[in-house]
Amino acid sequence: MSLDPAPRSVADGAIVELREVTKDTVRAICRLETGEAQRAFVAPNAISFAEALFEPKAWYRAIYADGAPVGFAMLYLDLEEPRYYLWRLMIADGFQRRGYGRAALGLILEHVRTLPGATELLVSWVPADGGPAPFYAGLGFVPTGEIDDGEVVARLAL
Ligand SMILES: CC(C)(COP(=O)(O)OP(=O)(O)OC[C@H]1O[C@@H](n2cnc3c(N)ncnc32)[C@H](O)[C@@H]1OP(=O)(O)O)[C@@H](O)C(=O)NCCC(=O)NCCS
Repeated sequence: MSLDPAPRSVADGAIVELREVTKDTVRAICRLETGEAQRAFVAPNAISFAEALFEPKAWYRAIYADGAPVGFAMLYLDLEEPRYYLWRLMIADGFQRRGYGRAALGLILEHVRTLPGATELLVSWVPADGGPAPFYAGLGFVPTGEIDDGEVVARLAL
C-alpha cells in the first residue's frame, strides 16, 4: 500500500485552493479535526454543515493543499446590509503552521472583495492561551473593542 505524500508547505510551493464541498467529499471534510486543546476555539465541521443548512447567508468551502483536504472555512455573507463575517476557519491538526490558514484567508478576502459594498471582514475569537488571536493579528485584524458572547470582535479593512 502506498501512502500519499504529505502536502508541501506554502513556503515549499503548495497550491492552496478553496473548493466547494460535494456529496463525495463531505465526509472527508467532517473528519478534519483540530487538536484536542483547540476544540474550544472552533465547532466541529459537521456542526458547521448543520448550521449552514438553516442559514441561507452561510457560504462555505473546504481548504485543499496540493489536492488534499486540510481545512474548512465558513462565512456569513449579508449582501443587503452589507455585513461580511468570517464565521469559521480551521486547519486540521497535523496540517497547521504550514501557511495554509494564511493562504486560505487570502483567497477568502479575494472573494469578499467582489461582493457589494465590501469594506471590511469581521471575525471574532475566543481570547485564550493557544487561541487564534496572534494568527489574526498577524494578518492585520484589529480588535473593534466589542465583545460578542465572550469573543473578541476584530475587523480587517479591505
Ligand atoms: C488559527 C488557524 C486557522 C491558523 O492556521 P495555520 O494554517 O496553522 O496558520 P498559518 O500556518 O497560515 O500561519 C500564519 C501565521 O500565523 C502564525 N500562527 C498561526 N497560528 C498561530 C497561533 N496559534 N499562535 C501564534 N501564531 C500563530 C504563524 O506562525 C504564521 O506566522 P508567520 O508567518 O509569522 O510565521 C489554525 O491554527 C486552526 O485551525 N486553529 C484551531 C481553530 C481556530 O482557532 N480557528 C479560528 C477560530 S476564530
